[in-house]
Amino acid sequence: MTVTNGVFVPNMRSVPAGEFISPHKKTNSVGVQAEDTRICVVMVGLPARGKSLIAQKVVRYLHWLSIKAKTFNVGQYRRTATPNPTAEFFDTTNPEGEKLRMAAAESAVNDMCKWFEEGRGLIAILDATNSTKRRRRWIQERCRSENIETLFVESKCDDEDLIMSNILEVKTTSPDYVGQDPEDAVKDFRNRIRNYEKVYQTIDEDEYDLTYVKLINVGKQVIINQIQDYLQSRVVYYLMNLHIKPRSIWLSRHGESKYNLVGKIGGDADISERGEAYARALPGLVAKSVGDNRKLTVWTSTLKRTIQTARFLAFEKLEWKALDELDSGVCDGLTYAEIEEKYPDDFKQRDEDKYNYRYLGGESYRDVVIRLEPIIMELERSENILIVTHQAILRCIYAYFMNVPQEKSPWMEVPLHTLIKLTPKAYSTQEDRLKAEIPAVSTFREKGSSAKHQ
Ligand code: ATP
Ligand code: F6P
Repeated sequence: MTVTNGVFVPNMRSVPAGEFISPHKKTNSVGVQAEDTRICVVMVGLPARGKSLIAQKVVRYLHWLSIKAKTFNVGQYRRTATPNPTAEFFDTTNPEGEKLRMAAAESAVNDMCKWFEEGRGLIAILDATNSTKRRRRWIQERCRSENIETLFVESKCDDEDLIMSNILEVKTTSPDYVGQDPEDAVKDFRNRIRNYEKVYQTIDEDEYDLTYVKLINVGKQVIINQIQDYLQSRVVYYLMNLHIKPRSIWLSRHGESKYNLVGKIGGDADISERGEAYARALPGLVAKSVGDNRKLTVWTSTLKRTIQTARFLAFEKLEWKALDELDSGVCDGLTYAEIEEKYPDDFKQRDEDKYNYRYLGGESYRDVVIRLEPIIMELERSENILIVTHQAILRCIYAYFMNVPQEKSPWMEVPLHTLIKLTPKAYSTQEDRLKAEIPAVSTFREKGSSAKHQ
């Protein structure tokens, strides 16, 4: 199978729907068998270059795709012995500091190898500066001896203003500086960086045999070397799409539809009168939340109810088939009560495992996540986007940004006539909700219930 971005895939194959997958083979949600692939993503770079942020985002993305992943942060291991080090601790001519730092790296790598050995995941991220060739060779050899692939991810950045704002944004509040004056923390952190700079070696042609990606100035330039397989290429493609420009993503369901009013699922109904009122109110709601002069693109599904809801918004619009509501197959156009009556076993099975349950001739939440992946990729690349979509789709997109686990995401309450604003911050996503004062039925169904919408 060939993947975008010119990367080849030697040890996987796609699995047609319904084909038996051996329980002994590692699988992931994307219908792909990655046989025995275990990858250590090794972060490389000076302090305050976004390594931890990148690591955390990759883990969130992989979890969303049902790929088990975990970050091993060497700083956290170091903190057990040295909770509040000064910059001198990171001076490589300080033998005590060197010893403790190496011990922290060894503990992290040991725990990571144990984690792989116990079969607890496919991708580990070793989050540290890993700033010398010697350190990287050591990691590579240790991983090789454990049959773990390595993918080195170097973040290089020489934009002084950005580095300073990174320090102010996340480093003055780091546990390394608890209780300290922020100005002193900034000074000390800059000295810490200077100590690293004395020995820092960027990945270069001497390391031609390493699998690596170098992200220069937040992806302005990307250099890729020796990508080996499908999972690696997937991580690399994701990294290539990341940016850190301030922006928000707005999510709204369509206005109440005529199907919502009678409790039917699926279909391609028009919006109701109250749905129409929401469509008319939406530009005002958006203006209130977005502020003036902010460029915005509106994405809708290809179904009438989202297009009708977005039609008064004076922004560029794009229709995506991938944003269409979860396909409920033979149940399309039925109410929950009718489904329970006609397909009682299916109705029960869905409640037992809503994320994985696939409607006869339709989709599961897991299927939806797979078709939404290009949407997530495009969202990562984009700036301000407003998405007008459907209940299940919105739940899946929301789950990606807010790190909601699979057993919870299909059960989240997402009311009609409400605008959700998500703003990515350094290590989290901020959420604000704006409710239009226009009544609508609730389409939320609790586990075990087949009651009609209220
Ligand atoms: P340390 O080595 O001290 O742990 P770090 O490299 O892990 O530092 P982070 O803690 O992740 O750095 O820094 C987060 C900051 O970096 C955020 O303010 C974020 O906006 C910014 N950032 C994210 N990606 C990049 C990048 N590719 N280059 C530079 N800065 C980035
Ligand atoms: O300086 C930033 C930091 O994250 C420290 O908290 C941590 O001890 C160190 O980097 C880990 O990297 P290294 O392997 O270079 O010691």
